[in-house]
Amino acid sequence: MTLPEVGARSTLLADWARGYESQPNEYACWLEPSAGHIPAELHGTLYRNGPGLLDIAGYPVHHPFDGDGMVVAVSFRDGRAYYRNRFVRTAGYLAEQQAGRPLFRGVFGTQRPGGWFTNLLDLRLKNVANTGILPWAGRLLALWEAAEPHRLDPFSLETLGLDRLDGLLRPGDAFAAHYHIDPACHWDGGAPALVNFGVNVGRNTRIDLYEFDPAFRLARQRAFQIDGFAFLHDMAITPHYAIFIQNPVRYEALPYALGLQGAAQGLASVPGRSSTIIVLPRHTALGEPRTFRAPGGFVWHHANAFEAGDDLVIDSVWYDAYVGIDPATDFRRIDFAALPPGRLARTTLNLRTGAVERRQVDPRCCEFPVLHPAQVGRPYRYLYLAAADAPTGNAPLQAIWKLDLHTGNQQLWSAAPRGFVSEPIFVPHPKSAAVAGAVSPDVGDPLANSSALEDDGWLLALLYDAARHETEVVILDAQDLARGPLARLGLGHHIPHGLHGAFSSRVSWPST
Ligand code: CO
Repeated sequence: MTLPEVGARSTLLADWARGYESQPNEYACWLEPSAGHIPAELHGTLYRNGPGLLDIAGYPVHHPFDGDGMVVAVSFRDGRAYYRNRFVRTAGYLAEQQAGRPLFRGVFGTQRPGGWFTNLLDLRLKNVANTGILPWAGRLLALWEAAEPHRLDPFSLETLGLDRLDGLLRPGDAFAAHYHIDPACHWDGGAPALVNFGVNVGRNTRIDLYEFDPAFRLARQRAFQIDGFAFLHDMAITPHYAIFIQNPVRYEALPYALGLQGAAQGLASVPGRSSTIIVLPRHTALGEPRTFRAPGGFVWHHANAFEAGDDLVIDSVWYDAYVGIDPATDFRRIDFAALPPGRLARTTLNLRTGAVERRQVDPRCCEFPVLHPAQVGRPYRYLYLAAADAPTGNAPLQAIWKLDLHTGNQQLWSAAPRGFVSEPIFVPHPKSAAVAGAVSPDVGDPLANSSALEDDGWLLALLYDAARHETEVVILDAQDLARGPLARLGLGHHIPHGLHGAFSSRVSWPST
């Protein structure tokens, strides 16, 4: 490929970086399409979480992952849309807004002003509640993987406090930002199961695996110890297993304790060393966890996994190495070209022989994989991601990308040169969702008899348009991305580049 010339690249970087300006304001209003029409059958609420503040009273955070969580909700009904955004009022957010200055160190490198001595031995974690969002059984939880979730009102987004899940979590217990929903749980009579985990790190690592029924009651719980330090952001599930990939990283805590850098800045990939695939049976009847050696690299996110005979197939976005933002670097000026891109790869693990094979699916830089919710843990055909505009090389995410994993066909809708996309969320068309919900449990593929429907739905994403410094909600036809958005709904202001979202079939609608 041809790299854009230097001027174009620096314009691109400046546009991307402007999408990381803080958005301190909170809004609640109806949205009108600036183009197109909202599909009348689109019914429910898109929730998105991400950093809302990239500075505290003018003092910049060192990494976007340290920014205070702000949740966006857009409800759709009868072709109309209602929008809200609101900060999660964590203890840290409230204290710092009142003080008008940073009071906490951030995990990814934000330091309190005043130099290393101010930060020396200050090992308090600030739960920024900025990573994931979970609507389940009428509750709405803002997730941050190193501590407890915050519970929000699903309509007003008002913060109701920490949620320890009816006493399941102890103070400070981790509850990950990457839950997965088994659409038809084998042990629960085919009902959906919410599966999440918590990682408590130390010299060794403990993984707590939690499964909840549709009423948010605990259905199963398992705890596992694994050797050594592990950094586990996501997992994949199948009907029988929860699967983690432990990447080769080393962790040095001393500079953090000494106040010289953030907790996560002690993380580094170990080149040449292999990864470990950890296969945790979701039920005690299936025995103990097993581990398998796999090629090295680094994974934040898994796309999906499924069982095929003796094989476990795990699709993930792989990087050559973990990349942090070191203390001397401004994240707004990072050199994309110097960093490894994330690329989709398929890992096939034979559970009988232990053989592991990893094969790249496509060289395009991508992140934030999503699929039809009925296919989670099952053989599937269509995957959607946020991707770079160019087919190779590392670059900001500017396009929505659809892959047909059966045929290799692709579709791409790009917002380049000045648009930047968030994670897309797939929303099944109601008639497709009804088919998925009617299948019997314990079949390999809930949509096996209707695979034409697997892409029948919409992709919802937030799009930051640097030309207008405004964020839009875009609605795409998942069967035909090339048509371009069915509707674009400008917010009238920008939302900083975000992290993860979810769709709930419930509508949060103003009463008037
Ligand atoms: Co994530």
